[in-house]
Amino acid sequence: MIFQTQLRIPGPTQLPERVVRSMNRPMIDHRGSEFAEILAEITTGAKRVFKTSNDLLLLTSSGTGGLESAIANLVSPGDEVVAALCGNFGERFAALAAAYGADVVRLEFEWGQPVDAADLAAVLERHPNAKIVLVTHNETSTGLTNPLQALARVAHDAGRIVVVDGVSSISSIAIETDAWGVDVAVTGSQKGWMAPPGLALVTVSDRAWAQQSKARSPRFYFDWKEAKTWADKGMTPFTPAIGVVFALQEGMRMLEEEGLDAVYERHERLARATQAGLEALGFRLYAQDGYRSNTVTSATPPPGLDVAALRKLLNDKYGVVIGGGQGKMTGKMIRVGHLGAIAAGDVVQVLWAIEQALEELDIAPSDGRGVAAISSSLQGVAAATR
Ligand SMILES: Cc1ncc(COP(=O)(O)O)c(C=O)c1O
Repeated sequence: MIFQTQLRIPGPTQLPERVVRSMNRPMIDHRGSEFAEILAEITTGAKRVFKTSNDLLLLTSSGTGGLESAIANLVSPGDEVVAALCGNFGERFAALAAAYGADVVRLEFEWGQPVDAADLAAVLERHPNAKIVLVTHNETSTGLTNPLQALARVAHDAGRIVVVDGVSSISSIAIETDAWGVDVAVTGSQKGWMAPPGLALVTVSDRAWAQQSKARSPRFYFDWKEAKTWADKGMTPFTPAIGVVFALQEGMRMLEEEGLDAVYERHERLARATQAGLEALGFRLYAQDGYRSNTVTSATPPPGLDVAALRKLLNDKYGVVIGGGQGKMTGKMIRVGHLGAIAAGDVVQVLWAIEQALEELDIAPSDGRGVAAISSSLQGVAAATR
């Protein structure tokens, strides 16, 4: 009997009870004062998380819609756009720009390796007309966090508009939108915000607005000017996902109660522990050391382990749902999400289940190695911070 599923994919993430309850209420008028108050609270709270005084727009869409809004508002057909790539989501962002007719300049790195700031500077020098730079903060497909501060600095100093996919990082991994020179940052409600999918949050700097007024791609649903005009009146241009708005408000209150620094520290601690546990079980961590993500760990399996069989067993017998590889890594890696509403006991449970499954699949005896490694990592970090 599985009493409760452990949803440990890198989003959507498990919802705290408080968030679930926040949605259990009647609909409200999205043109009324109650909605305006909630929108104001979300906007102010989100700006604190993004660390920005720029405009913040709430769009009803998944994260990709937020990214598409950036391309539709900033890029004209034929424009050169530099895309920094090191995984599947970077590829998708580049494909999105290409779909709008951009001439995409690819700055590509091996999967599992970070984007290099010096290489970005060199590409920008070779492409003085490329106004827009696309960067993935947290590459969810490889479990890697790019050195955003350095990358944004290089692009900003070269006078370019820095557009950041922060879908799987913002609210779990620190960002300083204004201090780092990020012009546009995008995230999605179903990740660290502890809400269901359905809302994208987008920040827009003055430089991005200036570019927006010149860009000539067709746009309607995702027109930022419309979104801003309505936001100033406490509304959204179209009917928003009101249920998700309730949830986002509650998730954000929980982030504030815990305190952002504590939230970031918790994600870091649980990421390290997950990494230690998986290594002890014979997995190889995929992302380069020093750049491993605090929200998702990717790892290739020990010899002989069928990833699909592992995931099925975890799901069917232990109620633990983890992710698999994407794109060229499909079937070749696992991805364990540890973002949002997650505590130490949750990551221990995931590791325990993986260890049991490895024995059942005749890969390695279950002798407590994984759980011991994850426990000592958790205790070690706790001792150091006491
Ligand atoms: C880094 C990154 N970008 C973009 C997306 C796409 O977001 P969505 O599925 O909400 O459209 C995801 C989703 O996992 C992501 O992790």
